[in-house]
Amino acid sequence: MSTISSWQNFQQHYLDLPELGMSIDTSLMVPPDELPQALDKLFRNAFQQMRELEEGSLANPDENRMVGHYWLRNPELAPSAEIKKVICDTLGKILQFAKQIQQKIIQPQQADSFRNVLLLGIGGSALGPQFVQNALASEADQMQFYFLDNTDPDGIDQVMASIGKELNMTLTLVISKSGGTKETRNAMLEVRHVYESSGLDFSKHTVAVTGEGSQLDQLAKNENWLRRFPMRDWVGGRTSVLSAVGLLPAALQGLDIEEILNGAKIMDGLTRRKDVSKNPAAMLAWMWHHAGAGQGEKAMVMLPYKDRLLLFSRYLQQLVMESLGKEKDFAGKTVHQGLTVYGNKGSTDQHAFVQQLREGPADFFVTFIEVLRDRKNASIEVEPGITSGDFLQGFLLGTREALFQNGRSSLTITLEEINPKSLGALIALFERAVGLYATLIGINAYHQPGVEAGKRAAEDVIELSLKIQSHLKSNPAQQFSASSLAEILEESAKISTVFKLLEHLAANGRLQKFSGSDPFSACYQENC
Ligand code: PA5
Repeated sequence: MSTISSWQNFQQHYLDLPELGMSIDTSLMVPPDELPQALDKLFRNAFQQMRELEEGSLANPDENRMVGHYWLRNPELAPSAEIKKVICDTLGKILQFAKQIQQKIIQPQQADSFRNVLLLGIGGSALGPQFVQNALASEADQMQFYFLDNTDPDGIDQVMASIGKELNMTLTLVISKSGGTKETRNAMLEVRHVYESSGLDFSKHTVAVTGEGSQLDQLAKNENWLRRFPMRDWVGGRTSVLSAVGLLPAALQGLDIEEILNGAKIMDGLTRRKDVSKNPAAMLAWMWHHAGAGQGEKAMVMLPYKDRLLLFSRYLQQLVMESLGKEKDFAGKTVHQGLTVYGNKGSTDQHAFVQQLREGPADFFVTFIEVLRDRKNASIEVEPGITSGDFLQGFLLGTREALFQNGRSSLTITLEEINPKSLGALIALFERAVGLYATLIGINAYHQPGVEAGKRAAEDVIELSLKIQSHLKSNPAQQFSASSLAEILEESAKISTVFKLLEHLAANGRLQKFSGSDPFSACYQENC
């Protein structure tokens, strides 16, 4: 791999998708000319599995559920009339609700219109909406967006402070499929508190997007929130961006959500092609397999040369890593599969981590994203005959060549422009690539046992914190060190956790701390 590949090689590995104004160039991945026979067999199986999934098989056996995100953009494919109706009705309700908000038919309690959207959610209930909002933002946006995707009190304060006096014009969307995720629940309680402290009725400013019958759904129903939009068990969190999760905020922003769905639907058609060399998602899955020997040996670095696509790598990080990062394969064998994704944007990162890409360990391949249309209007020349956009493209082409010369492979996805259709297509492309690749390597892409384990582990820590606080409250005159407290509470195996909990409580003025000769002999006591 010492010179840029030949014109002939380039043409051979260039997949043109004129329907979407898109192309994929895999020539710099140095793939074999032909799909190896063993992989061809795996692909036949993957296509068959994908067909069954689209027909409504229980493709997520661990959770005993169907996987139906492809029906969202083509309800005709839904396996039952009931599912088709839910999809169509929900889309209709989203469009109607957004119109009523924009036309001021639905108004806030103390202002004539809603001008802001505050979205509360995490993981699949936030990353997709954030990505779409940012990628398609323009001066035509109908509403200003804010996001809370954590349980960080300081982060919450920052966002609430930026909304400031406009809280009375702010529509809050609480998005959680399970309706029980603590980060989102906490953000909701915090935001509710701010509304109430400002004399505003939270329920008159709030909408829920959640699974029917969930805790959140019950709450929204009991308190008569502005609206409730359903999430169904056949849409997974990280593939929910084209359900109400992403479509509702996009419609409120004023985006053409039908065009986003249309782009995804066209891409779905192309990614059903049985010929791997003509199927863009299969091409990506093949390249991932080829780069990392089907073991995820190389990370995928995402480098979109477009500021609008900044959040794409964060969105993809979840879609890819939560789907593919699995300990066990379908047969129950320990495999520790995954595909590491990181990135940001070019050319910005050329002044950051690209140095290591060029000269450090060759443990990655790059996915470049090139956008041909520089901006809406004409550009000035920054040098004779040259625009800023020419430089942006120059940096991209130069970087991929420089990497290639140093034995680092890359593929390039080119879009004519970023618009609702191409964005929908991009989302659908990676959703399908993840699904196909998962079948090639024999894992379930649609469950997330690791995320659930994290949630349970946090609950144990919270329980321990309550135990500590209760003991200190019952013994207000006494001081305890971390080790003595751990022993009394019969939690000696967790002394370091007890220590960290005490430090946190003390730092927030919820306990008194008496320093000792070293950090571990400090004592703690209930506040007087
Ligand atoms: O993809 C997933 O399933 C997860 O990342 C979820 O989206 C995330 O945990 C948030 O869950 P919920 O929407 O239930 O609040």
